[in-house]
Amino acid sequence: MNFKEEQKRRTEEIEIILRKYLPEKSGYQEVIFDAMEYSLLSGGKRLRPMLMRETYRLFGGNGEVIEPFMAAIEMIHSYSLVHDDLPAMDNDEYRRGRKTTHIVYGEDMGILAGDALLNYAFETAIKAFDAEGADLAAVAHALKILAHKAGVFGMIGGQVVDVQSSGQMIPGEKLDFIYRLKTSALIESSMMIGAVLAGAGEEQVKAMESIALQVGLAFQIQDDILDVTSTTEVLGKPVHSDEKNLKTTYVTWKGLEEAKCEVENLSRKAIGELKDQGGEASFLEMLLEFLIYREK
Ligand code: IPE
Ligand code: IPE
Ligand code: MG
Ligand code: MG
Ligand code: MG
Repeated sequence: MNFKEEQKRRTEEIEIILRKYLPEKSGYQEVIFDAMEYSLLSGGKRLRPMLMRETYRLFGGNGEVIEPFMAAIEMIHSYSLVHDDLPAMDNDEYRRGRKTTHIVYGEDMGILAGDALLNYAFETAIKAFDAEGADLAAVAHALKILAHKAGVFGMIGGQVVDVQSSGQMIPGEKLDFIYRLKTSALIESSMMIGAVLAGAGEEQVKAMESIALQVGLAFQIQDDILDVTSTTEVLGKPVHSDEKNLKTTYVTWKGLEEAKCEVENLSRKAIGELKDQGGEASFLEMLLEFLIYREK
C-alpha cells in the first residue's frame, strides 16, 4: 500500500462527506452558513473522521451510518478551533493556512459560527437514525459518546483548565488532565463511535478508548513541539502561540528531547494495543506511525 496516496484518497472522500452535510445557504442568516463553511472546509488534516472510519472498518462496518458522525466530529473539532483562536482564548489570527474565522467574519460571527457548528454537528449526527439498516440502539449509544466527550467532562472541560492555567506553572498531573480532555477526548470519541457503529463489543470499545487516549496525548505533545520548532508557513497557524500565552506545555515541562521520546513511546504503545486487537488495520497502523513524525 502506498500510504501517502491512500491518505490523500481517504482525505478527499472525507471532504466530499463534509460538503454533503453542510446546510443549504438561504435566509436572512446567510452569513452564518458562509462562516460555517469557511471554518469547516479549510483544509485540516481530517484526522478525527479518518480515525472514526478506519475503526469502523476494522470492526467490519461497511454502511453509510458512519458518515453523519464523521461530519459531526469534524464540525465539533472545527468549532473548537474557531473558539480556541478567539481573542479571549489563544488570540491567534491564522488557522489552516488562512485568516481565522473571527478575523474574516468579526468576533461576533466567530462566536456564533462556533456555536452553529457545534449545534449543527448534533443535527447532523442525528441523521444517522435514518441511514439504511441503521442499528438504532448503536446510533443512540454513539450520540451519547459524542455528547459526553465534547462537553465539560471532555474537550470543553480541558479547554477550561487550559485557559485558566495560562501564566501559571502547573504540575505534570494537571497538564496530563488538560491533554486528556482538550485533545484526547474527541479522538477517543472518534474511535469509540467507529467501533460502536460497527457492532463491536464493550471490551473492544474500551480498548479503542485506551488506544485513542494515547494517540491524543501524543498528538497534543507533537502539537506543542511543532509550536516551538516549525514555521507558520508549514503549520498554517502561528508558531510560538503557547509562549505568547504563557502556557505550560509538555515541551516547557520536560524539554524538547523528552517530549519527542514521549510522542514515540505513546504512539508505539497505541500501535501495539491496536495489533493485539487482531483484524486488518494496516492503514490505521501506518497512520499512527505517520503521526509520530508529522510536520503539520
Ligand atoms: C489542532 O488539531 C488542535 C489540537 C487538538 C492540537 P489538528 O492538528 O487536528 O488541526 P487540523 O484539523 O489538522 O487543522
Ligand atoms: C487546542 O490546543 C485544542 C483544542 C481543543 C482546540 P491548542 O490551543 O494547542 O491548539 P492549536 O495549537 O491552537 O491548534
Ligand atoms: Mg488553546
Ligand atoms: Mg490554540
Ligand atoms: Mg497548539
